[in-house]
Amino acid sequence: MTDPGEAGAGAPGHGLWGGRFSEEMAPEMAPLNRSLDMDFRFWPQDVRASRTWARALLRAGVLTHAEWQDIDAGLQMVATRLEGMDPATVEDEDIHSLVERLLVEEVGGAGAKLHTGRSRNDQAATDVRLWGMDAVASLDGQVVRLGSALADLAAGSQELVMPGYTHLQRAQPVRAAHWALSHVWPLVRDRARLRAAAEEAAVLPLGAGAIGGCPFAVDRAAMARELGFHSVTPNSMDAVGDRDWIVSVLFAGAMIGVHLSRLCEDLVLFASEEFGFLKLSDGYCTGSSLMPQKKNPDVAELARGKSGRLVGNLVSMMIQLKGLPTGYNRDLQDDKAALYDTVDTLELTLPAVAGAIGGAAFQPARMEAALDPALLATDLADYLVRKGLPFRTSHEVVGRVVRRAEALGCSIAELSTEALAEEHEAFGPGVTEVFDPVRSADARVVSGSTGREAVAAQLEQAREALGAGLW
Ligand code: ARG
Repeated sequence: MTDPGEAGAGAPGHGLWGGRFSEEMAPEMAPLNRSLDMDFRFWPQDVRASRTWARALLRAGVLTHAEWQDIDAGLQMVATRLEGMDPATVEDEDIHSLVERLLVEEVGGAGAKLHTGRSRNDQAATDVRLWGMDAVASLDGQVVRLGSALADLAAGSQELVMPGYTHLQRAQPVRAAHWALSHVWPLVRDRARLRAAAEEAAVLPLGAGAIGGCPFAVDRAAMARELGFHSVTPNSMDAVGDRDWIVSVLFAGAMIGVHLSRLCEDLVLFASEEFGFLKLSDGYCTGSSLMPQKKNPDVAELARGKSGRLVGNLVSMMIQLKGLPTGYNRDLQDDKAALYDTVDTLELTLPAVAGAIGGAAFQPARMEAALDPALLATDLADYLVRKGLPFRTSHEVVGRVVRRAEALGCSIAELSTEALAEEHEAFGPGVTEVFDPVRSADARVVSGSTGREAVAAQLEQAREALGAGLW
C-alpha cells in the first residue's frame, strides 16, 4: 500500500483520487509527479499544521472530541515514525499523502476525516511558509554571527590606518576598523530584508482550500495565532498561488550573496602577496598539490562563487512564477528547489566566512608601508582651503605639486616647503604636518567618517544594530 486511498479505491498510483481513474499512473510520470524527496524535509511543519487543522475542525463541529483526540495523538505517533524514516523507502507522492497514510494506519477511521475542508494546495502553501519562517530566522542568526566577527575585527583595529581605495587605486587613509565596519552595514540591511521577507511569509493560507475557501466554519485567526502567523490570507484564489514571499527570501539571499562576494573579493586581494594586508588562518585556506609555497584563500573564493547561484535561484523562481494562471498550478511544486538551495548555500557559506574573519589577522607593517604620501593629496588641497583658497584652485595647485614630484621621481612629502611655495605662496612651514596619515584620518570627525571617535561611535552603533532581534 502506498497511500491511503490506494487500498481497494482505484487505479494504482492514483492513491488520493483513485476513484476517478481507471488506468494506472505511467512509470515515467510517477517520478516526475513525486515530490516526497523534496518535501519530506518539512514533515515537522506538515504535522504541526495538521494538528492545528484538526483542532480547528473540532471547534467547527466537524470532528467529535473523541475523533480529534485520536487524530491528535495519532499525529504525534506519526511524527515519531517520521523521525527515523528514509523517504527513499516509501512510495508516497508527497509529505501530505505520507502523513495522512501513516495517520490512517495509526488511528484508522478518524484519520480519514482530517482532510475535510482542506486541500494539498493550501496545505503545501502553509507548510512551506512555516519552514521558510524558521529558515529565515536561522539565516538571520548566521548573518549576525558574521557581522559580529567583523565588528570584533574592527574593535581590534581602531588604531590601524591603511589605504582606502576607489577604483582599486589608493585614495585616502582610513582606519582598518572602518573598512571592517563597511562590511557590517550591508549585513544590517540584509537583516532588514530578511525581516521583511519573514513578515511576508507569516500570512496563513490554511482555510483557502483548493481555490474557493473552506465551507466549514474553521477559525482562521485562531489557527494563525497557534502557528505563529500574524494574519490570514485575504483571498483564497491568491493564497494558493502566491509564492511572492519566496521571491523576497531569495532576493534577500541573493543580496547576502552579493555582499559576501564583495567582502570575499577584498579578502582575496588583501591576502595576496601584492597587498599583504591580512593573513587568513590555515584552517580556511588550502595549499597546492604542485606548488609547495602556495596558501590559497579558498574560503573567500568559494563564498564569492556561491553568490552566482544565489542570484540564479532568485531569477529561476521569478521565471517559474511568471505567466502562471490564477490559483494553484503544479509548477509551484518546484518552489522549494530554489528556496532550499538558497537557504542551504547560505547555511554552508556564512559560518565559514564568519570563521575566516574570526581567524584573520591584519598585517600592520604591510598596511603602513602602503600608506604612500600621495594618499594625502586631498589633505594638501584642504590645507590650502584652510588658507582661504577656493577648493577648485587648491585642487589644481596640488595637481601641479603631484606632477612636479613625479617628474623629480620623489613623493609629494619629499618636496621641500620652498618647492611647494613655488607652486603657491600659501604653502608655509606648517605644511609638513599634513603628511601624516593618522592625522588625516582623524581630521575626519563627522559621523560616519574614519576619524578615531567617529569610528568608535560607529562600532557601538553596529553592535547595537546586530544585537536587535529579528522581530
Ligand atoms: N505536492 C504538491 C506541491 O508541493 C501539492 C500537491 C497539490 N497537487 C495537486 N494536484 N493539486 O505543490
